Amino acid sequence: MEITYEPFEPAHAERLAAFLSGDTWPFHGADVVGEAEARRWVAEGRYDGPDNRAFWITVAGERAGLIRLMDLCDPTPLFDLRIRAGYRGRGLGGAAVVWLTGYVFTGFPDVRRIEGTTRQDNAAMRRAFRRGGYVKEAHHRGAWPSSDGRLHDAVGYAVLRDDWISGTTTPADWDDEPGAGDR
Ligand SMILES: CC(C)(COP(=O)(O)OP(=O)(O)OC[C@H]1O[C@@H](n2cnc3c(N)ncnc32)[C@H](O)[C@@H]1OP(=O)(O)O)[C@@H](O)C(=O)NCCC(=O)NCCS
Repeated sequence: MEITYEPFEPAHAERLAAFLSGDTWPFHGADVVGEAEARRWVAEGRYDGPDNRAFWITVAGERAGLIRLMDLCDPTPLFDLRIRAGYRGRGLGGAAVVWLTGYVFTGFPDVRRIEGTTRQDNAAMRRAFRRGGYVKEAHHRGAWPSSDGRLHDAVGYAVLRDDWISGTTTPADWDDEPGAGDR
């Protein structure tokens, strides 16, 4: 399976609107995105500009997914990932995390770490983070509302530049409060 990553351009706005509105997106704030809303997001600069970039994930000429990079002017940018339903579970998400991590650390020398957050029950995304060398470093209870009104826990992952270079993973210091486990 040959995967390519094609930069998003403003001229792709209609394609992006069709991509977003043509599928459902579990584990996002809203499962469904309207075409008008997608066009507004493009107009707001969410997918291009100095701080934000996006890439189509293309398989055999088909747009199978989208990577969105945010806060690229900051030492800690973030990303979001969407794979179309028909392409999920085929390795694209994990490969995309590996690719975007190399892209950001190579192209943005001031970036020290890259972050991502997902819903606790998003098993595929959590494994994709790990595939890219990301480590869980945050757990937010009841922080992720879903469209049915329920509150889910959110989990935060990040990869450090030094770990990416050395191919290691530095764990978060969870036990830094002596005696806290007794309460
Ligand atoms: C989450 C998402 C990006 C993952 O991409 P994907 O292409 O489906 O995932 P992959 O096929 O690369 O699988 C990544 C890992 O998760 C595992 N996995 C895949 N689907 C899974 C599932 N439904 N349940 C549990 N594990 C799963 C794979 O085995 C793989 O594990 P490994 O690296 O140990 O082999 C994609 O499914 C998606 O877009 N989902 C809907 C939107 C979404 O959740 N976006 C993320 C918002 S933060």
